[in-house]
Amino acid sequence: MNQRVLTGITTTGTPHLGNYVGAIRPAIAASREPGVESFFFLADYHALIKCDDPARIARSRLEIAATWLAAGLDTDRVTFYRQSDIPEITELNWLLTCVTAKGQMNRAHAYKASVDANEAKGQEPDDGVTMGLFCYPILMAADILMFNAHRVPVGRDQVQHIEMARDVAQRFNHLYGAGKELFALPEAEIEDSVATLPGLDGRKMSKSYDNTVPLFEGGAKGLKDAIARVVTDSRLPGEPKDPEAAHLVTLHDAFADAATREAFRRDLVAGLGWGDAKQRVVDLIEAHVGPMRAHYAELMAHPERIEEVLQAGAAKARRTATPFLAELRQAVGLRQMVAVVPPAVQAAADKSATPLIKQYREADGLFYFKLTDAHNHLLLQSTGLADGREAGNWVKRLKTEGDAALAEAPVARAEGVSAEAVSQALAALVEATRLAEAEKAAKAERAERAERAEKAATAPKA
Ligand code: TRP
Repeated sequence: MNQRVLTGITTTGTPHLGNYVGAIRPAIAASREPGVESFFFLADYHALIKCDDPARIARSRLEIAATWLAAGLDTDRVTFYRQSDIPEITELNWLLTCVTAKGQMNRAHAYKASVDANEAKGQEPDDGVTMGLFCYPILMAADILMFNAHRVPVGRDQVQHIEMARDVAQRFNHLYGAGKELFALPEAEIEDSVATLPGLDGRKMSKSYDNTVPLFEGGAKGLKDAIARVVTDSRLPGEPKDPEAAHLVTLHDAFADAATREAFRRDLVAGLGWGDAKQRVVDLIEAHVGPMRAHYAELMAHPERIEEVLQAGAAKARRTATPFLAELRQAVGLRQMVAVVPPAVQAAADKSATPLIKQYREADGLFYFKLTDAHNHLLLQSTGLADGREAGNWVKRLKTEGDAALAEAPVARAEGVSAEAVSQALAALVEATRLAEAEKAAKAERAERAERAEKAATAPKA
């Protein structure tokens, strides 16, 4: 069987060069491996947890989708979609919420970090904490389990979430699987081999450090300006440089083959000036990123093309999600009524669709009864009987025995009414009677049980 690999990207920011080297490029490379079935999605529901600026959410979704497509994601090969286009995910989120221990969510890092920060500031522990943040790991579990992903490549900060998804999957399988593994148990895949790209100041490239190099923003000039700001030591041209101490070299290496890396080190040791070195890095990155940037610009100018790709991706994802969710609904007991109660009974139970049998007395002093259908059309008419109890007996027999009592009963079919119509009406009547009796018996039993419980509770203790 194919290995299913799933990756979610929270849509709150604009991808930078570090995201590209650390996440986008390796993920796209991995999706081309044989035997791998990849799912990539924009985690836009997750974005709402972190960001309440609609314009920023909308913009980020567009930019991130365009970036992945421009970077070479092959949407014929992978399934690429927006989380919010798959209603099955929010539905599964609820099924999982109902089997997730609150205590486990109390221990989730993201939530705990907020609580710790509040406590450090002397505020209420849950200050500013939404239920979205608190339940974040459950939504993530729904993302993963919806597609039965085996492997989930993530950063170290997300490992706990994958473990929680495993736990929830196990509990669900145990409760509802009836011996079947409804969910595959996902494994976190920590990409240690992928070096995190340093930013301008040498720390990990991150928006929170304000040290990023843009991927596409600002064009070739934006890239050149950013690289110009990479911090180096103050050695002058002609002085030997230490390649191992320069994070400019790490930036360079992320885009260079072995021979180019080697040459760069040699030239730095031989006294290459930082200005020239930076120009080489710019040229190298531009050669790689330039063509993608053109593709990106083209996509950003035609958001309707991205929309189309994502809609097709959603349809593809739902070909898996829709039948699977139907199976899960079935497993937890959210089933079609017809599977429990046959439709005929359903109709009989419905008062307005039930035929009626009525007993009455006429001016002649005799007792009569008649059967009418659900629309009050006459089906059967009795003859007049002197004994009211006899009439009552016939009514009772017709209600419980139906057709079987018809042959001897003192009745005639109304004009234009077929035997078939009478027979159907009587069958429905019998069923309705049976249901009513069963309901009455159940009610009596409940009452009796309640009475017994009441007695037991008030009985003096031994
Ligand atoms: N929480 C992830 C992050 O911030 C994004 C994400 C959402 C995700 N759902 C996922 C990642 C499912 C992997 C699988 O990076």
